[in-house]
Amino acid sequence: MNMPRHENVPPEPDTECVRAIVRTMEREQPDAVLAVGGGSVMDAAKAAYLSWQTGLDIDDLFGVNVASTRFPERKFQRICAMPTTAGTGSEVTPYSNIIDARTGVKKLLMDPVIIPEAAAVIPELTLTAPEKLTRETGFDALVHSIESFLNFKAMAAHPEAEPWAPEAIRLIVRALPAALRSPGDTEARTHLSAAATLAGMAIRTSPTSLPHLLSYSFCGKASHGDAVAALLPHFWRFYLAEPEVRERTMRLAPFFHGNTPEEVIDSYCAFLRSCGGETDPGRLAQTGAEMIDKLAEDALLNPVKLTGAPRSVTPENCRAVFHEVLDPVWKRS
Ligand SMILES: [Fe+2]
Repeated sequence: MNMPRHENVPPEPDTECVRAIVRTMEREQPDAVLAVGGGSVMDAAKAAYLSWQTGLDIDDLFGVNVASTRFPERKFQRICAMPTTAGTGSEVTPYSNIIDARTGVKKLLMDPVIIPEAAAVIPELTLTAPEKLTRETGFDALVHSIESFLNFKAMAAHPEAEPWAPEAIRLIVRALPAALRSPGDTEARTHLSAAATLAGMAIRTSPTSLPHLLSYSFCGKASHGDAVAALLPHFWRFYLAEPEVRERTMRLAPFFHGNTPEEVIDSYCAFLRSCGGETDPGRLAQTGAEMIDKLAEDALLNPVKLTGAPRSVTPENCRAVFHEVLDPVWKRS
């Protein structure tokens, strides 16, 4: 069997990387595509396979359901995925995050036609992941779970997804510290892999919102997992104005102990710090608060995640909201 490979996909792949994979596909004319790697590899492969099949440049595929709307009758081939990290959940999602090489801003391609055809989740493939990667990817899966669970409007339309996020959180709060202590702990690695895929299934129907959206602007300053983990508590507190979010937050008290929603969020922060994480986005990015204006600018490039938040934010008021949420906590050491 002829199995040509495209290697060296970098972390946080950009549009040029996707175009390079498309050129490989043009040359090799694959009957099937297997993506073996972390979220970056799977996201790049998903985007490239769609770009190659549609003949559309990656720039023209960003946004929501572009290909499935433009080619409603077409049945696209989809990648098979074999994740080597436990975090992104990309093996079961309709998402691909790619950096626009011209602007340096991360953009979202979202379309059900890129949900992988099949995924082989083999926890042993994550055993050699270094501590930093284990922590960052574990944080990513944890934040997927929490953001998805708080997204009560989307969750109402998919009640079958209700148990997935809490189960993923339950697994991660036990297994992540264990995997950080003992990288060869196969049970902890298995639980983390299961949690990451469960969290991916959860965000498929009940997506992430502001922490993930704002994390796009942290590219080059902090890892995706560290960024979403540090941004979450502040927007979580902002979401508490919604009674449904308060109620859902208390349902997470078995994992993050507290008698009030605010205490549950404090416990989340304590968990993060106990794993070596940072809860101050300014210190994480090593930039001053002027970055908050940039966050608002970049957010307008992916408006679907803005309006999908549990407490809605509009393109018009997002700058004011980001300042309200982040000004009090933005420190730069
Ligand atoms: Fe993520």
